[in-house]
Amino acid sequence: MRQAGRFLPEYRALRAQHGFLELCKTPALAAEVTLLPIRRFPVDAAILFADILLVLEPMGVGLEFAKGDGPVIHHPVRTREDVGRLTRAPVQMTLAFVLETIRLARAELGARAPLIGFAGAPFTLASYLVEGRGSRNYVHTKTLMYGDPRAWHALMERLAETTVDYVQAQIAAGVQAVQLFDSWVGCLGPDDYREYVLPHMRAALAAIATAGVPVIHFGTGTSALLELMRDAGGDVIGLDWRVDLAEAWGRLGPGVGVQGNLDPVALFAPPEEIRRHAARILGRAGGRPGHIFNLGHGVLPETPVEHVAALVDAVHELSAR
Ligand code: CP3
Repeated sequence: MRQAGRFLPEYRALRAQHGFLELCKTPALAAEVTLLPIRRFPVDAAILFADILLVLEPMGVGLEFAKGDGPVIHHPVRTREDVGRLTRAPVQMTLAFVLETIRLARAELGARAPLIGFAGAPFTLASYLVEGRGSRNYVHTKTLMYGDPRAWHALMERLAETTVDYVQAQIAAGVQAVQLFDSWVGCLGPDDYREYVLPHMRAALAAIATAGVPVIHFGTGTSALLELMRDAGGDVIGLDWRVDLAEAWGRLGPGVGVQGNLDPVALFAPPEEIRRHAARILGRAGGRPGHIFNLGHGVLPETPVEHVAALVDAVHELSAR
């Protein structure tokens, strides 16, 4: 997750010359950024360089990545009328640049590593659409959800359909696995997840499953939702560092894999301490097939590059035993 992010100096050098959206929309550059981590570290997969919010721009809501502010939606969706005004166009047209990035990156990667595609899950996309930016309490999102459930479900249905189209187009263009990011769904309790999110995730994940590539279903702060997320679907469930990996996997059962779950801030520890953390996580996984070692969330921009290298080496060494 966010492998390229802002922690690599070569990414920052590219960003000094190009805006973030410009990088995403220029396939030759976006493919180059996709490959940066692969060139630097012996990691086992590459993740497409794009953003979960790119699908929102063609809906006519005014997406901007403002300096220092994170993403902004200039025309947030707060009412039934707003939902009705969202424009619709085929992703093959509006997001053709992502599909071209995939083709270029795959050609460069060859047999070196598989390419993981990704998309935002409907709830997390809705949270940006409704709030207009990142949020702490999701007041506008929950106000729409509780106050006009029909409008909420119409919005979620629309986002689920777009997500399915987008992921299927990515698979057709060559990605070999996909990750659905429901990064902020952990702000909901289990009853609300069941009522307002689960039906849409189940429909989306069932449609995606027909393509036959592995699907990672990711969220953070989801320790109260893990069984519901598993019921919604996905071959692998993403775990953040707030849960014990063995205990969470025990709850999920042997039918699914797990991904995780190093605290991204552990990468600020000295390399020996990073190694101890990695060993502990691998110990919890116990060599069972179906564990993808990863951070529990994205790499932070200030992360020392040598510490990431030390982690990759430690994981490979410790899991080869
Ligand atoms: O390694 C990669 O860079 C993979 C590509 C990738 C990006 N965003 C590029 C990016 C991926 C997989 C994402 C997913 C994403 N984007 C998520 C889900 C994962 C998660 O972290 O929960 C979310 C919620 C977003 C929305 C988003 N995009 C935010 C909140 C921000 C700004 C804050 C931040 O942490 O950077 C972005 C911008 C963004 N997306 C950057 C990158 C490399 C930084 C942009 C810059 O260069 O200024």
